[in-house]
Amino acid sequence: MTIFEATCSAPVNIAVVKYWGKNPEKIALNLPTNSSLSVTLSQDQLHSKTTIRASADFTSDRLWLNGHEESIEKNKRLVTCLRETRALRASMEDKDAALPKISGLNIHVCSENNFPTAAGLASSASGYACLVYTLAQLFQLPLDASDLSIIARQGSGSACRSMFGGFVAWEMGSKDDGSDSKAVQIAPETHWPDLQAMICVVSDAKKGTSSTEGMQLTVKTSALLQHRIKDVVPKRMEEMIKAIQDKDFPTFADLTMKDSNQFHAVCLDTYPPIFYLNDISRAIIRIVTEYNKDGIKAAYTFDAGPNAVIYAPEKNMAEIYALLSHYFPGHQFDDSLGLLKNNAAPSALPQN
Ligand code: ADP
Ligand code: DP6
Ligand code: CO
Repeated sequence: MTIFEATCSAPVNIAVVKYWGKNPEKIALNLPTNSSLSVTLSQDQLHSKTTIRASADFTSDRLWLNGHEESIEKNKRLVTCLRETRALRASMEDKDAALPKISGLNIHVCSENNFPTAAGLASSASGYACLVYTLAQLFQLPLDASDLSIIARQGSGSACRSMFGGFVAWEMGSKDDGSDSKAVQIAPETHWPDLQAMICVVSDAKKGTSSTEGMQLTVKTSALLQHRIKDVVPKRMEEMIKAIQDKDFPTFADLTMKDSNQFHAVCLDTYPPIFYLNDISRAIIRIVTEYNKDGIKAAYTFDAGPNAVIYAPEKNMAEIYALLSHYFPGHQFDDSLGLLKNNAAPSALPQN
C-alpha cells in the first residue's frame, strides 16, 4: 500500500489592527469588511502541527483535532480548502502523466495545537494556515505564500496572515472573486528583533461565541462597526505600517491598544452584546495603563477571548512579567517568548 504523507507546523499571529466583519454577500469566499495587520509569533511559541496522509486504502476523508475525531463534511471551510487544493493537483496530474495520482485519494488529517483551541489565541489562524500549507506540500503545489494565503483565508480569515513571518497585512481587496484578498509581508521577522510578545493565558476555556458567529452578528447589528471600517481602519493601517517601518514602539503600542479597545467596543455594540474580556482581562488593561503612565513601555491586545498578548521591547519584559505575576500569582504568563521567527514550515516532505 502506498501512503503519501506530509507534516508541517505553523505559528499563530496576533493582530494589531483587527479583522472583525465579513462581507455578508460573499460568505463562502470569506471576504473581510476591513484590511488588518498582525505580527506572526515564533513557531517556538503557539503553533499547530498537522500530518496529512493520502492512500487508496482510505475509504473516506477523516479529521482528528487534538486527538478527537471531528466531522469533515460538516466543516464547510475545511472542505473548501481541500477542494481547492485537490483541484490544483488534479490539473497538474492532467498535464503530467508521470505524476502520482493523489488528487482522487481520500485523506486523513491529524492536527494538534500546543495551546488552548478556540479560546481567543488564534487557533484558527495557525490551524488553517497549517492545513493549507500541509496540503500544498502533500500535493506539491507550485504556489507562493500569497497564493496559499488566498486558500487559507477561505478556511479562516486570520489564517491568511500566518503564511508569512514577521509583520503581515491582509489586504481586503476589491475583486468580486476574492483573488486580491490576500496576505502581504510588510516587514520580515528579522526587522524588529527587539519587539517581543508575552502570552497571558487568562482562561483556556472554549469561547461562548466563535469568531465567525460573533463577527457576522456584529455586521448585522453594530452601527459602530460602520464607523470603524470607514473612518478608522484605513488611516490606522497606514499609521501602523509606518510605525513598524520606523520601529517606533510608542506609536505601535498606542495604535495597538486603541485598536483592541475599539474591537471590544464594537463587540459591546453588537446586539445581543458579545463579551470577550473578563475581570482579569480588564485588570491587565489597568495594570499596563498604569505601567505606561510616564511613557509607553508595553501594549496589550486581546483577540476574541479573555487572553492577553503583551507586546514590549525586550528590556521591559522581565519587569512586566514580575508585575503581572505579582497581581496574578498562579497564572500562566509565558515570558520565555520572543523573537518573531519563521512562517509555516515543512518538517517533512511527501514520500511514497
Ligand atoms: P480562535 O480564537 O482559537 O481562533 P475561532 O473561533 O476563530 O477561535 O476558531 C476555532 C476553530 O478553529 C476550532 O473550533 C476549529 O474548528 C478550528 N481549528 C482550530 N485549530 C485547528 C487546527 N489545528 N486544524 C484545523 N482546524 C482548527
Ligand atoms: C479578533 O479569523 O478567527 O482574532 O474568518 O471566521 O475564521 P474566521 O474568523 P477569525 O477571526 C479573527 C478575529 C480576531 C482579529 C484578527 O485576528 O484579526
Ligand atoms: Co480564530
